[in-house]
Formats: sequence, C-alpha cells, structure tokens
Amino acid sequence: MMTTTDYRPGLEGVVAAETRLSHVDGQAGQLLIAGFAVETLAAQATTEEVLGLLWHDHLCTPAELTAFQARLAAQRTLTPEIVAILRMAAARQCPPMDALQLAVGALHLEELHALEPYAQALRLVAVLPSIVAAYWRLQHGHEALAPDPQLSHAANYLWMLTGQPPGAEAVRALETYLNTVVDHGLNASTFTARVIVSTQSDLVSAVAGALGALKGPLHGGAPGPALELVFAIGEPSRAEPMLRAKLERGERLMGFGHRIYKVRDPRALVLQQAAARLYATDGDRQLYDLATHVEQTALALLTEYKPGRQLQTNVEFYTALLLHGLGFEPALFTPTFAIARVAGWTAHCLEQLAHNRIFRPQSRYTGPGGREWRPAERREARV
Ligand code: ACO
Repeated sequence: MMTTTDYRPGLEGVVAAETRLSHVDGQAGQLLIAGFAVETLAAQATTEEVLGLLWHDHLCTPAELTAFQARLAAQRTLTPEIVAILRMAAARQCPPMDALQLAVGALHLEELHALEPYAQALRLVAVLPSIVAAYWRLQHGHEALAPDPQLSHAANYLWMLTGQPPGAEAVRALETYLNTVVDHGLNASTFTARVIVSTQSDLVSAVAGALGALKGPLHGGAPGPALELVFAIGEPSRAEPMLRAKLERGERLMGFGHRIYKVRDPRALVLQQAAARLYATDGDRQLYDLATHVEQTALALLTEYKPGRQLQTNVEFYTALLLHGLGFEPALFTPTFAIARVAGWTAHCLEQLAHNRIFRPQSRYTGPGGREWRPAERREARV
C-alpha cells in the first residue's frame, strides 16, 4: 500500500485506472488502440469505425456501421441557443477553445446531462465539429452552415468549415489524424474527464473539464506554436541558430518531449506519412522539407542541451504540418484535437462508470502546525 510519503509529482509512474481503450508503451514506442496498432488503424479506418470500436469494444459489421453513422449524424444540429452563445463569443473574439468550452457547457440547456451516459456521449461527439466549424465561420464574418447528414463525421466537419464539398484525399487525411489521436492512455485531459464522472457527475461536465485541460501548451496547445516556429525559421540554414538560441534562453521546443515516450512517438510517424502524401500532391513540398529539417536539427540540439532526457518528436509536431496542409489555421489545431479526443474522453467516461470508484488521492501536508490565532486588531504588519 502506498503511503503519503510516496509523493510522485505529476503522478509520474502511478497507475490510477485500468482501461481496454488504449495502451502506450513509451519504451518501445508503441500505441495500441483497443487492441490495434495505431499504424494499422489510423490510415485505414473511418472515424465512425474507430468510435464504434472504442464504445462497443468490437469492429462494427456493415449493417451496424450504417445504423451507427445515422444515429451520430442525427445529433449534429446546433440549437439556436448555442448559435447565439457562439455569436456573443465571436463578437468578443474569444479564442476558439474557450468558445468551444462555453458551447459545451450550454448543452446543459438541452438537459443533456439528464440523459443516460451513452446518449450524452453520442451528442457530445456529434456536436463538437458543428460547434467548432460554426464558431470559426462566425468569427470570420460568415454565417454558420447546417450539417449535412449524408456526409461522414470527418467530411461534414470540412463541409461545415468551408462550405465546399471536401475531396476524398482531404477526408482521408483528416480521418487519419482523428484516428491517430483518438485516445492515449491516462493523459491529463482524459484523467480530468474520468475524475469528473467518478463523482457521478455527467459527461457534459466531464468534456467541459477535459477541454480546459487540453488547451494548455504542455498538452494539446502545442501544435500552433510548433508550426509558428517552423514558419519563423523560414529556411533550413536558420534552423540551427534559432533553435540553439531558444534552448540557450531556457525555452522549450514545442512538439518535442513526452512524459511517457522515451523514443519517437509512433503517432508522429503516422502523421508524417499522412502529411507526406498530402504535400506530395497538394501542398507546399518546401514546407514539408523544412519541417523535417527543423525536426532533425531540434533532436540533435535537444541531445546536446538535455543529455539523457531522451527528448523525441511528439505527436504535435506533425499534427501541425498535416492540419496546415488541410488548410487549417493554427487557431483550429487544438479544437480539432478536441474533436478527435472527445471520442476517447467519452469512451473513458463510459468505462469509468461501468466500474466506478471515486478518485480521491491524498496530499502531503507541507505547511506548519500549531499556529496561534489572534483577533484582527492584534495582528502585526508583515514585513
Ligand atoms: N524542449 C526543451 N526542453 C525540454 C522539452 C522541450 N520540448 N521537454 C522537456 N524538456 C526538458 C525540461 O526542461 C527538463 O530539463 P531539466 O531537467 O534540465 O530542467 C527535462 O527536459 C524534463 O522535463 P519535464 O518537464 O520534467 O518532462 P515532463 O515529462 O514533465 O514533460 C512535456 C513532458 C510537458 C510534454 C514536455 O516535454 C514539454 O513541455 N514539451 C513541449 C510542449 C509539447 O510539445 N507539448 C505536447 C505534448 S504531447 C500531448 O500532450 C498531446
């Protein structure tokens, strides 16, 4: 049994849940999603197939998949209340992650929390792309578009963002991204969601909390800065001096390092390959080549400046490149991550509720004891 003296900052190495949803092997650089290697699943499955796998623990048959897709598509429409909230947020130029969190909280107006957990999960996963796309359009002076129930989850998101029928290649690239980052063990946002439902709170609250955890730059907020860095570097010869200067100033290089992975994050390779396909046909090949040069330079400098730390490329570096190749602005990167990860969050919530025990760790007290109480008039000024 652990005692309060076994304090592990950041809960590093502590096993706090059992899950069938994903397994991260940080030494071998392997990720299993519900039993499948991420390399197998990500580039082949549709988003709906992966979602069905996480929620139902098996691959859907074609008939199950058709029914599941229809159920999900039926939940995409935004209520006028949510559109009104998004309009207010757009008028104040709220960052998209904050607008998304506001809109998710507003699902309480639909009394979503009163439905059974699976129905809450369905609505949450279906509606997140609608919220993000509607907000993006409102923020940029366009009206929000209605979802198209004939389109897949990923295709509909692209449609609602742009108002253009998406090409098959773009849909495939987006699905590969969404599948790659759908779930990843007990990361900070997933842990947040599990803690919230463990109190028998609802999934709306869990997802609102998880969004708050995701947006920080040490978690899901890194890809925007990672791409900005590549753009700021601009050409290969500037990579070494600029990255060195950052490390000399004690700054972190976004898109590198991971609590669990001590070798290259396997998701980085999946996304790099997807980006290479996209940039080969449709994008700016020079940017792709610059990014790979920046990656190699950063890795060499991290070995020099942080020897023994085993800092490798994480998922966010190639997320940035892939989503940029799809035409996404950096401000959309983290909300799009949320659109993927909400599938994992909700699956974890359902799993937690099936075998629930409230999370209640201990803290180690480091303050004084036996302080003397004095009435206010007898307290001395502190110097
Ligand atoms: N650049 C430079 N130095 C780094 C980096 C980095 N990206 N990451 C870690 N380090 C250094 C730290 O400064 C520290 O050095 P020190 O011991 O000399 O002080 C050492 O490596 C260990 O760092 P920790 O913060 O203890 O490592 P931890 O496991 O807590 O952090 C994290 C992991 C937060 C991801 C970290 O590597 C980081 O900040 N990376 C940059 C941000 C990023 O890419 N975030 C996305 C993560 S992936 C995701 O969440 C989806």
